[in-house]
Amino acid sequence: MNADVDYRFTCESVRAPELEELYRATNLGGRAGEKIRRAFLKSSVVCFAYDGTRLIGASRALTDGEYHGLIYDVAVLPEYQRHGIGRRMMDELLARLPVWRVMLVADRDAQGFYRSLGFQNYPDVMARLNSERL
Ligand SMILES: CC(C)(COP(=O)(O)OP(=O)(O)OC[C@H]1O[C@@H](n2cnc3c(N)ncnc32)[C@H](O)[C@@H]1OP(=O)(O)O)[C@@H](O)C(=O)NCCC(=O)NCCS
Repeated sequence: MNADVDYRFTCESVRAPELEELYRATNLGGRAGEKIRRAFLKSSVVCFAYDGTRLIGASRALTDGEYHGLIYDVAVLPEYQRHGIGRRMMDELLARLPVWRVMLVADRDAQGFYRSLGFQNYPDVMARLNSERL
């Protein structure tokens, strides 16, 4: 892989098909079409990783800027994983979330990654899902 990874903090150069491809390649289902691009556009903070013109990683967060932050959709293309790109994107998001509590949903396979960044299992979390809106 190219060592010169470029990190970007706006959605300007990001296209829906390359986001779709990233989430397909990392098995994060339900993120397709313009809907996933709109979700990034409406996010408070975004961080993308590029190798040249190729999108190789993405991540985003929502925040009130005071107390709470939520991180979503962190993914790095398989061939670029384990080179510190996920950590760097998380560091960039967290630096832009000066809040009391940052939460995220971690797939079982990704829990070691988030644990290495200081995240812990958190009790008392509840969620209501509507799969028709995915
Ligand atoms: C999870 C993911 C984003 C990590 O990105 P990455 O670029 O490979 O991670 P990094 O190379 O920055 O790793 C940072 C640290 O986490 C560790 N780590 C990375 N992936 C890990 C995993 N799956 N389990 C345990 N530890 C992991 C690394 O060893 C590294 O530790 P170190 O700093 O002590 O060496 C990436 O594997 C991915 O896209 N996975 C598929 C999508 C996914 O599951 N996303 C999370 C949604 S909940």
